[in-house]
Amino acid sequence: MSALCSSPKLVILGAPGAGKGTQAALLAEKLNTPHLSTGDILREEVRKGTELGKRAQEYMDRGDLVPDDIIIGAMNERLKEAGGSTSNGFILDGFPRTLEQAKALSSAVQLDLVFLVKLSQDEVVRRLSARRVCERCGRNYNLLFNPPQEEGRCDLCGAALASRVDDSPEVIRRRYQLHRKQSKGVEDFYREQGILQEIEGDQPIAEIHQAILDTLND
Ligand code: AP5
Repeated sequence: MSALCSSPKLVILGAPGAGKGTQAALLAEKLNTPHLSTGDILREEVRKGTELGKRAQEYMDRGDLVPDDIIIGAMNERLKEAGGSTSNGFILDGFPRTLEQAKALSSAVQLDLVFLVKLSQDEVVRRLSARRVCERCGRNYNLLFNPPQEEGRCDLCGAALASRVDDSPEVIRRRYQLHRKQSKGVEDFYREQGILQEIEGDQPIAEIHQAILDTLND
């Protein structure tokens, strides 16, 4: 594995449901690097009932983006905790989503690579409508692609599985449209820096993972 892979600073971009979280988790395990998901961070704050969670929840439930000032402040703190300003690596999933967020990130750290996982709206709706998440441990399942062994129960901890509040078809479409509106500026920002790598998301999970590893090894 190349030097880049020992402590890379990576971002995974993509539409809702493109597979950012799935790929970031696999990569984090493979590279033994922290995985920072803004969606997971915000959902945890909502669960704990913190001030940040209370401010974020209404945006999340509607499928809107949480305002930049809230999310940038929260991410700066997490990056410091993960050693983002030192030589340690990390994998960001779901951040940045606006040009303002991308600029704030670039003033804090120098990224190595940004992966963009591409997927059509129809496939996004199909996948997210079939997503189920463990209410206790947060493990992700998909009724079409990786169902649990026992219907409605987590393989790992046995707790109940549920759909995410923002995974209704109407909210999924809203999230997708918002993504299309916001993402171009972010993608162009990284394309101009020569660090954007595009990957087709309509492939099996293992193949996308391998494509990311191959790129890191090049
Ligand atoms: P977040 O949780 O980040 O939601 P999202 O971006 O909409 O992404 P998802 O988690 O839905 O999808 P994913 O791409 O991670 O796909 P996954 O791997 O889970 O954010 C939620 C909300 O928080 C936002 O709407 C916003 O309100 C707020 N927020 C977050 N970040 C923010 C920011 N930076 N700024 C402002 N607001 C922010 O996969 C999806 C499903 O498909 C799973 O069931 C999985 O098993 C399956 N799957 C994955 N890959 C494949 C494959 N290759 N083949 C078949 N199935 C697959």
